[in-house]
Amino acid sequence: MLDTLKDYSSVRLGLRSWTEVQEYLVNCKGIILPIGSIEQHGPTGAIETDALTAESISNEVARRTGVLVSPPQVFGMAEHHLGFPGTMSLRPETLIMVVHDLVISLAKNGFERIYFINGHGGNIATLKAAFHQIYATALEKNLAVGPKLRCKLNSWFLVPEVYRLANELYGDKEGKHATPSEISLTLHLEPSLLSKHHSLPDPAPAGPITNYEDFRKRHPDGRMGSDPYLAKPMHGELFLEKASIALSEDLLNFLSQP
Ligand code: NI
Repeated sequence: MLDTLKDYSSVRLGLRSWTEVQEYLVNCKGIILPIGSIEQHGPTGAIETDALTAESISNEVARRTGVLVSPPQVFGMAEHHLGFPGTMSLRPETLIMVVHDLVISLAKNGFERIYFINGHGGNIATLKAAFHQIYATALEKNLAVGPKLRCKLNSWFLVPEVYRLANELYGDKEGKHATPSEISLTLHLEPSLLSKHHSLPDPAPAGPITNYEDFRKRHPDGRMGSDPYLAKPMHGELFLEKASIALSEDLLNFLSQP
């Protein structure tokens, strides 16, 4: 369990039996699916950053709303980070197929609203492409939930309240990758990470992204314009709260739409 202060056992799909899931579906057809990435986060950040953040915020949204949360899809599309050891990426076409199969599995048994809480900017385009593939399959295979099936993606770091707080705390040192906001959240969730938290020289500015060799040339230590040393565990607690309040509201709206 990531956040030992709170109990998420009642909202985790993975801890339910199939009979309990069947009962849940009578009243709610929604589920949260956390999606992250396993990729370098600069010389002081954890490889699992995007998976940790997406999972913890998803658990907290589930606790606040009572909507079930799936085990996380920790691997994402991180091709441009492959120049750094520890990165594990799914190619865009693989991620499309994985997400497609997971959603169709849920839909076959009655889930109609799939809410993705995302921790990695590189997943966004691929997930949107996957949703179109999912809708086509649901129609062509005549799934019972077909016409009602909806997927939605929301990235916690793009929530306006989160964005504003990051700007107030860090200004332009927030940068675009290995940001102090995401690193704060990981320090709050996993205090052992404080042991590698130290100051760094000025980062390379954020530039265009092509292949992983070009990425490493432009961003030699993996950071894109960020100063993760500004991160603090107590900031992470605030980001967790702001993101989960806003995403809970967004999720409830999504579930109430016809
Ligand atoms: Ni990240």
